[in-house]
Amino acid sequence: MAARNGFKVFQNLRSRIIGQSRGLGTKPVSGSYRSVCPAILGSVAVGVVGFGAYKYFNWETLKELNLIKVQSVSAAGTPQAQPSVWSQGKDHALYLWIELSHDANAKEVAKVAARLQKLVDMVTDPSMRDESDEIWAGVGFGPNFYKQIGGKVKESYTYSHRKGVHGEMPSSAGDVFIHAKCNTVSKLFELAHLFIKSLPPGSVKNAEDIYSFVYKNGRDLSGFIDGTENPADDDSRQKVAVNKETGGSYVITQKWIHDLKVINSQQDKTLESWVGRLKSDSTEISKKSITSHVARMTGGSNVQKKPFEIVRQSMPFGTVTGESGLFFIGYAASPENFNYMLDRMVGAGDDPHSDDIMRLSRNVKGTFWYFPGVAELKRFE
Ligand code: HEM
Repeated sequence: MAARNGFKVFQNLRSRIIGQSRGLGTKPVSGSYRSVCPAILGSVAVGVVGFGAYKYFNWETLKELNLIKVQSVSAAGTPQAQPSVWSQGKDHALYLWIELSHDANAKEVAKVAARLQKLVDMVTDPSMRDESDEIWAGVGFGPNFYKQIGGKVKESYTYSHRKGVHGEMPSSAGDVFIHAKCNTVSKLFELAHLFIKSLPPGSVKNAEDIYSFVYKNGRDLSGFIDGTENPADDDSRQKVAVNKETGGSYVITQKWIHDLKVINSQQDKTLESWVGRLKSDSTEISKKSITSHVARMTGGSNVQKKPFEIVRQSMPFGTVTGESGLFFIGYAASPENFNYMLDRMVGAGDDPHSDDIMRLSRNVKGTFWYFPGVAELKRFE
């Protein structure tokens, strides 16, 4: 056990020094850094092994010794957002969507939700975790439930049903939503199970847990690279996703089922005109159709400044024999950002055009949530 712990500590140390994790971002490693790194690693390893002669290796001990800087989830001065909000992606995500029964005890449910981080720590021991099994999670609440438990928001966030020429966007019920990311999918399964088990018996009316995966290094199941124009670095992600005063974030979730027959039967040129980008390398088409997805999202057919941004953390999900598609999830400091985009997808925005992306996928479920800041959430414990 001590040897295994020691190995994990060394792995932790290595990945944190080099910053290899998908989740921590992939900053380029300079040449001199590369040559100095093995030396540093060697010295640290010798130190760690020596130290282990006296005491079992322990992550907490290393933290106490200040050998490791634990990733901070907030910039100085800004209230902390929950870990899922602007952190980078991992190999898998859990999307757990819960509708409560009418007689559920809302305060008790909120208490369990407010202790989500404790459940996360039960699934992956914080003193032992590394990039393979650490979980970054957050919990959000539907507007009715949040009001019921006495939660306050700066802006109301009701999700309206929408209908366009290519299909509908139904407005679905939802009280509690968990978004969690991990490189080990079974950890996410454990978390969903533990969360539901921790709720007072009979609380849940309907629930759905979806487990997503990275497809072809970051492509949607349509074959297009997804995320090209997403805010990439931690600062811009935080700026777009988090309300500065509260640390809270508004979230859109939509379940999309792709029509693989359409996707497989259309020429790449046609699909590219629907998306507004090339399939091979995601180059933006400079004069694209006003009905292309990118033109709908950015406000025009040319490459221009965007009126609104969101932090998308959508991922593919599903099975070959059943249904598959995109679980769309986006974070923003205001729900206005989502409404602008959704209206423009169904011809209800500033022009009558609808989004061609809806020719290849069908939206079956959708709503908005509020993910309170860490301090706001703590009040419900
Ligand atoms: C079936 C559903 C969807 C699919 C397959 C899809 C796919 C894509 C793809 C391939 C891109 C281009 C690459 C990129 O910049 O990421 C893109 C861009 C984008 N999508 Fe979607 N998307 C879907 C739904 C949505 C929805 C519902 C929203 C908003 C509510 C949205 C917002 C955006 C935004 C903001 C961009 C970036 C536009 C830019 O700045 O160039 N997407 N999407």
